[in-house]
Amino acid sequence: MNIVTILGARPQFIKAGSVSREISRQQKKGVNVKEVIVHTGQHYDANMSDVFFEEMDIPKPDYFLGIGGKSHGAMTGQMIEKIEEILVKEEPDWVMVYGDTNSTLAGALAAAKLQIKIAHVEAGLRSFNMRMPEELNRILTDRISSILFCPTLAAVENLSNEAVGNWKTDTKVMLSGDVMQDGAIFYKKFAKKPPGLVVSDEFVLCTIHRAENTDDTERLEGILSAIKDISEDKQVVLPLHPRTNKIIQNSKLDTSNLTIIDPVGYLNMVWLIDNCSIVLTDSGGLQKEAYCFSKPCITMRDETEWVELVDLGANVLVGADREKIISSYFAHKSIAPEVFKSDLYGGGRASQAIVAELLNA
Ligand code: UD1
Ligand code: UDP
Repeated sequence: MNIVTILGARPQFIKAGSVSREISRQQKKGVNVKEVIVHTGQHYDANMSDVFFEEMDIPKPDYFLGIGGKSHGAMTGQMIEKIEEILVKEEPDWVMVYGDTNSTLAGALAAAKLQIKIAHVEAGLRSFNMRMPEELNRILTDRISSILFCPTLAAVENLSNEAVGNWKTDTKVMLSGDVMQDGAIFYKKFAKKPPGLVVSDEFVLCTIHRAENTDDTERLEGILSAIKDISEDKQVVLPLHPRTNKIIQNSKLDTSNLTIIDPVGYLNMVWLIDNCSIVLTDSGGLQKEAYCFSKPCITMRDETEWVELVDLGANVLVGADREKIISSYFAHKSIAPEVFKSDLYGGGRASQAIVAELLNA
């Protein structure tokens, strides 16, 4: 079986890394399965890309397209053109795409137009906010995929509410669990403190990169002002996404008293999650990782795709309102350990389930 994997953005390296590890485990057992990796170049800085391939032993990409730092249309369009050429050459049985980035949609569209079957990992998630580029990417990708690997029951229900059964006869929906949790469980023992970072015993881990927060000055101001206040209570460590960094550099926004560091590799990030007291974020992946490491999470968005965390009380949605962020931080900074007991994401076996399903398909 020949699989072409399309990836390009940071969370996709982490997700695909777990699946690649399972594919190579099957290869070692003599199973005839080949993976060709296409890196679109959507993320390209060494600390947003190379570091994950090095640390997580992800096979080096067979193709690197170098298409990053562009508008949505230019990025997606150029990716489709290049991916199509590769798919024509490689003639895969399956194209695997992950999550909801422009690289995901480009890979799916290129494959669908060549009538190559698509496996979408992290299918069925919805924020119900059509202004998010990710919502468009995930809805369109789901619609043209042959297997929809859902990380959660909520994702399966979303697809059922969209009448997935009527889309076309061979679309299969499978509750696989979450591949990102596979990585978090596997790499916990390899976690490393970021070199040179001085942290207190108790600190807040914060990330901000979502377009709706970075590209709206009022929202970004609200968030930065809130975390500055919070930093009077506990040190705030903020590995800064290049998108946010560029905006802050070009503004007069106040980031004093925050411990701002460059984006870190995954092993450093796992250390930060495991050792922090609480997570404040607008990241999708980090919300689940916080749960996996039994840390309360405050999500600085108006909605989340990971609704089960909010239902359990492990995560609170606060938007970008300064007062709400601060009051939720104080209300939520220590919560009962029982909250983290449920197995929400498949217990670290999602990649195995996905590869087994593909090999049987
Ligand atoms: C993308 C995804 C988002 C995901 C995020 C993960 C889309 C629409 N968005 O958002 O869903 O949560 O990745 O991090 O696909 N940049 C650099 N160096 C890099 C990468 C980016 O400088 O290595 C800067 C560039 O100025 C670029 C900007 O960040 O224009 C935004 O990058 P882009 O990939 O377009 O979107 P993200 O915000 O990273
Ligand atoms: N991450 C990382 N280094 C960082 C920030 C995040 O390794 O400096 C990891 C994080 O632990 C998670 C993934 O990147 O596994 C999430 O990516 P991101 O927040 O960029 O995207 P999202 O999940 O929101 O799409």
